[in-house]
Amino acid sequence: MCGIVGYIGDKDAREVLVEGLKRLEYRGYDSAGVALLANNRIDVLKTPGKVTKLEEMVSGVQQAKIGIGHTRWATHGEPTTVNAHPHMDCTGNIAIIHNGIIENHSALKTKLTSLGHTFRSQTDTEALVHLIEEFYSRTNNLEMAVRFALKDVDGTFGLVVMAASEPDILVAARRGSPLVIGLGESENLIASDASALIRHTRNVIYLHDNEIAVITRNDVALKNLDDETIEREAEHLTFDLEQIEKGGFDHFMLKEINEQPETIRNAFRGRLIEETGISNMGGLHEVDDKITNAKRFVILACGTSWHAALVGKYILEQYAKIPVEVDYASEFRYRNPVLMEGDVVWAISQSGETLDTLAALREARKSGVPVYGIVNVVGSTIARETDAGVYIHAGPEIGVASTKAFTSQLAVLNLINLLVARKRKTISEEQGREIVAEMRKLPGKIQQILDNTGVIESIAEEFKDSRNFLYLGRGVNFPVALEGALKLKEISYIHAEGYPAAEMKHGPIALIDDNMPAVFIALGDSTYDKILSNIQEVRARKGNVIVIANEPDSRLKELARHIIQIPKTIDILSPILSVIPLQLLSYYIAVKRGCNVDQPRNLAKSVTVE
Ligand code: AGP
Ligand code: GLU
Repeated sequence: MCGIVGYIGDKDAREVLVEGLKRLEYRGYDSAGVALLANNRIDVLKTPGKVTKLEEMVSGVQQAKIGIGHTRWATHGEPTTVNAHPHMDCTGNIAIIHNGIIENHSALKTKLTSLGHTFRSQTDTEALVHLIEEFYSRTNNLEMAVRFALKDVDGTFGLVVMAASEPDILVAARRGSPLVIGLGESENLIASDASALIRHTRNVIYLHDNEIAVITRNDVALKNLDDETIEREAEHLTFDLEQIEKGGFDHFMLKEINEQPETIRNAFRGRLIEETGISNMGGLHEVDDKITNAKRFVILACGTSWHAALVGKYILEQYAKIPVEVDYASEFRYRNPVLMEGDVVWAISQSGETLDTLAALREARKSGVPVYGIVNVVGSTIARETDAGVYIHAGPEIGVASTKAFTSQLAVLNLINLLVARKRKTISEEQGREIVAEMRKLPGKIQQILDNTGVIESIAEEFKDSRNFLYLGRGVNFPVALEGALKLKEISYIHAEGYPAAEMKHGPIALIDDNMPAVFIALGDSTYDKILSNIQEVRARKGNVIVIANEPDSRLKELARHIIQIPKTIDILSPILSVIPLQLLSYYIAVKRGCNVDQPRNLAKSVTVE
């Protein structure tokens, strides 16, 4: 998920690596490290925190012409020095840097430990380097060892390996996490994104999934995992640094919206069991019983995470038949809440640092009830202060307006629902399998929405000067209406309200006139006919109706001014799809109004004050 740089050539590798890592700082990370190879020895330096800290350390070690560097965004194991990359094998011969997640790391660790390997860190990555060491001891060839090792690996990786015993090559491989090779004069580089290498060269080769690159000072050879050679022409990069950093998108928010097929895949990775229609989350193993036998869940969160919690309430009550209370963390804290034996408290937070949420969970703790977390940032304060929890693995979120973290929170709430509902036997194995099958289809369906943004852009153009917006949905999509309204407020500064569609007639309907756009989420579920009536009520008052729909029928087509069609899925998963057009709508409106999308006024990415 985070940053990789590798260098081989005539320059001082210490400088090239540190400078490259600095270019990757914008991605957000928690620790950094380098491995430098000279005089048949590898020196490893690593530290939590800033690259400048690493820079100071690096000046004290031997010069090198080959090396690898990493900025880590922890997924497995807290951001400490020992967990930072590079990781070394037992003998100090092989060093690795890795982005991504090794799903079968526990099984590999057990096997490798029994073969005599000693593990030092809590990372999933370390299993890789010992596995490569194991094959190296049999082949004495780094490239072969990497190739063999990767056949035993499940998960995603962008990795670079070097060995003191083969001081003239870097071996890199990719599955899922990007890698780009920079071709220089008597030097070559590799990085997780081109921004880290364009100071040295603009001629690059992108590595594809399941490919290995063997990089020397003067040559780059590409192969697949079956050792077949691959020919690929180099490309010349013309775009500027800023464009590269944003992955070719105009803003981080748009990049993050577009990452959602991948982030949802990551949230589910290794956690879905097809055969028995259940989920499996390592972070909850030890508290499985407490969760299954809970009498009530209390979910605490703020902002977008609070909206995710509300969706969670609908899902868990409907399927797992467990009463769920959702509270604003800031309110919970001061209203003398009653917690009882059998309660399980969950805190949801992208950053894991939101003070209101943290204070609320500390308050909950005083009652002696278990407190679990659903968090993005590994090793964050909330992650550390909860008894157990699930990471959402959305990767660093840079845009202040939360997008991919929201859908990943929903994905994880669905995993928890699946676990609890199956264990409590409130759904059958067959139903569980159906849910798993639908979960697997989500990334493709999200991609479909992202591939058809034309209508959303034209709606944005038409309504960009509106002063008010209404967002309406029912059931599990009511919190999505709240989230759509929040997104618009946050980045375009247009006043927007979210309501349960049926509530509109109890007051907000007074606002409707021919200037007022109303965005309805009207999917083909049990509430569809009811929502059609609500739409009629708005039309009767000349309101402009925009509808997110699955398969619009003639009645809807007649009433709506614009229809944004999204693929169908089961109701409990539908918010993961229905929110995406709303994220895009607010994005395009904000851009058209000339607003600062990634850093909207008055807002901070993590709110660490009360
Ligand atoms: C979302 O777009 C917001 N910027 C904000 O509401 C955010 O969700 C809230 O502050 C909670 O943050 P957390 O998930 O990091 O705890
Ligand atoms: N899963 C690895 C870890 O937690 C890599 C994380 C990253 O991509 O930065 O160390």
